[in-house]
This record gives sequence, structure tokens and C-alpha cells, in this order.
Amino acid sequence: MDRRAFIQATALSACAASGARGDSVKPSSPAGGGNVFSSDGNRATIRTAASVKPLRVFQLTDTHLAIRDGREDPFRQYSDRMAGGYRANRHFLTNETISAEEAFDRTLDLAMREKPDFLALTGDILSFPSEAGVERVMEKLGETGIPFAYIAGNHDWHYEGMPGSSVELRETWLEKRLEPFYQGNNPLFASYDVNGVRFVAIDNSVYEVLPQQLEFFNVQVASGMPLVLLIHIPLYIPGRPIGYGCGHPDWGPETDKDFKLERRPPWHAGGQTEATLAFHRAVFAAPNLLAILAGHTHRQALDVKNNIPQWVGGHNATGFFTDLRIIPH
Ligand SMILES: [Fe+2]
Repeated sequence: MDRRAFIQATALSACAASGARGDSVKPSSPAGGGNVFSSDGNRATIRTAASVKPLRVFQLTDTHLAIRDGREDPFRQYSDRMAGGYRANRHFLTNETISAEEAFDRTLDLAMREKPDFLALTGDILSFPSEAGVERVMEKLGETGIPFAYIAGNHDWHYEGMPGSSVELRETWLEKRLEPFYQGNNPLFASYDVNGVRFVAIDNSVYEVLPQQLEFFNVQVASGMPLVLLIHIPLYIPGRPIGYGCGHPDWGPETDKDFKLERRPPWHAGGQTEATLAFHRAVFAAPNLLAILAGHTHRQALDVKNNIPQWVGGHNATGFFTDLRIIPH
């Protein structure tokens, strides 16, 4: 399938997927009013007046699996730096040394025992798009038997030093390697319904949001269903560093410190696009948005803006996962 056909086909299937899973629940009252948010270690809880069934989600982000076999040989020059990372990490609870692969396995083994209703993978699960890495993740997810959503981070599709813009490289490698993660849905935007909650996955791994992603998000808001937004790069929050780069007013070539290290074009001049800024406004104005789950910074954090919490998960290379429960009042 060529690239355009892939995107078109998956756009159709994403629409079909909306509402196709989980239980059918009537459109609820606005989700935001009267919600209570709690955060305790890696546990997050939302108590909501919205019409939902109790729900438990494991969010995994930034595992940074770097798995290579012979098929990766032609690409080694593009994956060597990242392949050296996250071999030895401190477990977020026990402080023992573990590899990213062990951390990933343990998290999903725990999921098999605890049986959450849904797994939300919010990017940089891989450090580069090797076939062996994709197969490994799909095999383990399949073992769990738990429904999941996946969106890319800025590393999942990135071969460092390969010519092309970030948008072009993302399009190429989403199609060539990461396609299985999307289960027939559009890789750039899709929704997954579980127990009356709609998880809306938007790929902002290039720090920006495209007009069609903004449009898709607005349609989900108009559905009236309680929503949880899944993104990789956290949305700008005043006072947070540039890692909260989606919608950040200072985002641009002057603040891009890593483009040489990561061998990619610098963030473009002119700042963020209108669509990205409009997306940022739309998210924090959405009356039925329960929460945002993000990653990227490798540092657990919570901000609440307009009564909408943005939880940033710690990196799963350390075994971290966010254990989110959504409970009706
Ligand atoms: Fe990232």
C-alpha cells in the first residue's frame, strides 16, 4: 500500500473504530464538572460525575527499547547512538538495575496479573523503528490479551541522521515499520472506547499538530463522551520547561538544544503553527475532557489547568507506569 493510500485507509478505519469497542454508553453529562483528581506515587485516580463504568488503565511511556537483529544492519549508522541507551536503569520502586527490556516485560507481566481494562502506550516505546523491536512489542502485547492504544514518540520512528524532515520521516517509518501498532487505525489520530470513556490518541511527536488532527479532536469533543487524551509530548504549561513543547510559545530553533545530537533538522523558525496553538486552546477548553496522559520528559509530573489534569508519566525504562483508575461518583 502506498503512503497516501495507507493514510486514507486508516483514516476510514479510525472512524469505524470510534464507538466500535467496549460498551455502548449514552452521551454523558460534561465530564469536567465535579471531578476529583488524586495522585499518589504512580497511581492516578479520577472520580467523575460522568456516566462511565469503573475503569483501570496502565499507561506506559518512554521504554526506549533498542532491539536489533541482522535486518537492522543497513540502518545501524542511524540507530547506533540510541542503541547504547537505557541498558541499565534504576527501577522506580526498588532501585535495582534493570534493562529497558526487563522493565517492559515486568510491566506487562504485572498487567497480565492485574488485568487492567486498557493499556495506553504514549510513545518512545522504541528508540528507533527496528523490525525486531516492533515484533517484540507486538508479541508481548498479544500475550496480555488486553486492548491497547499506541501513539508514536519522537524516537519511535526516528533514524538519526537520515535525510528528511521530521514529518517526512515519521510518515515513512510509521508506514514501513510501526503499522502493526495501530491495529488498522489512523496512526496520526484515532479513538478507542472502553467502559464509556473515549481514549483519543493524537500523534504530536513532531511537537506540532496537523489541521486534520485538530479537526478530529474537535469531533471527539463534540461527541460529548468523557475523553482521555493520549499524546507523547506534553502540552505547554506556564512555568514548565521546553520539554512541554507542544504549544510552547518559545518553541523554535533558538530553544532546540538537541538537534545536532539527534541528527535531525532544528525546530523550524516562526514558532508553532496555528493548528497547534488552536489544538492547545481546544484541549484546555474541552468540557468533557477527563485527563491528558503524556510522556517524553522522563519525569513524573502533574499539572491541572482549567480543571483538566495533565499527567506526565515517568519513563517505563525504569519500570514506571501510571496506574490510572476512573471511577464514577
Ligand atoms: Fe520523547
